[in-house]
Amino acid sequence: MGTGLQALALAAALAGALLVPGRLAAVEARELPRIAEVAEDFARNCQGCHRADGTGACRTVPRIRDFVGLFTRIPEGRDYLLRVPGVVWAMLDDARLARVLNWMLASYSPEQIAPGFTPFTSEEVRRARERPIANVLEVRSALIAELQRQGLLAPGDDGLVSAGCG
Ligand code: HEC
Repeated sequence: MGTGLQALALAAALAGALLVPGRLAAVEARELPRIAEVAEDFARNCQGCHRADGTGACRTVPRIRDFVGLFTRIPEGRDYLLRVPGVVWAMLDDARLARVLNWMLASYSPEQIAPGFTPFTSEEVRRARERPIANVLEVRSALIAELQRQGLLAPGDDGLVSAGCG
């Protein structure tokens, strides 16, 4: 057999191998996007700002670690968590976003979560996304003031004094 024919035979063998169903499935699995796990959803959509360790960025991004759960302790806080821009505009469907929020609370701020807190549902996320908060800074300061008034948060702590503040 000449080299040309050998090359042809090799090409045919390779094509055959790729068409074996198992092999084909393996190739496709590598190329298709994976359904992300919740931690990966957080990593891709949230931690660029909030950081992997949940410490945020000094004066610009609130820390979520040992903090974000406090919002579940006041009625308007639950609504705020669902309607804050970074949440509402996340590139995740409602079910995955609800899962990320519940995971975020449980992973970063379990001790601050209100007793009896019921996890967010995808339906609740869907409804909240229809009403994003427009004046987020105002709404946030009012909530921080309320948390401080109730003694849940130290005076002077607004969650923005965190990583990098020195
Ligand atoms: C572009 C940066 C950025 C991204 C991305 C982002 N956030 Fe935020 N997040 C912020 C900032 C800044 C605030 C403070 C409120 C505001 O100014 O919008 C905030 C506030 C929050 C709050 C309310 C807590 C507080 O102290 O105000 C929650 C909860 C939250 N983010 C969760 C998430 C989740 C979950 C994701 C991913 C799906 C996410 N964020 C993505 C920047 C971001």
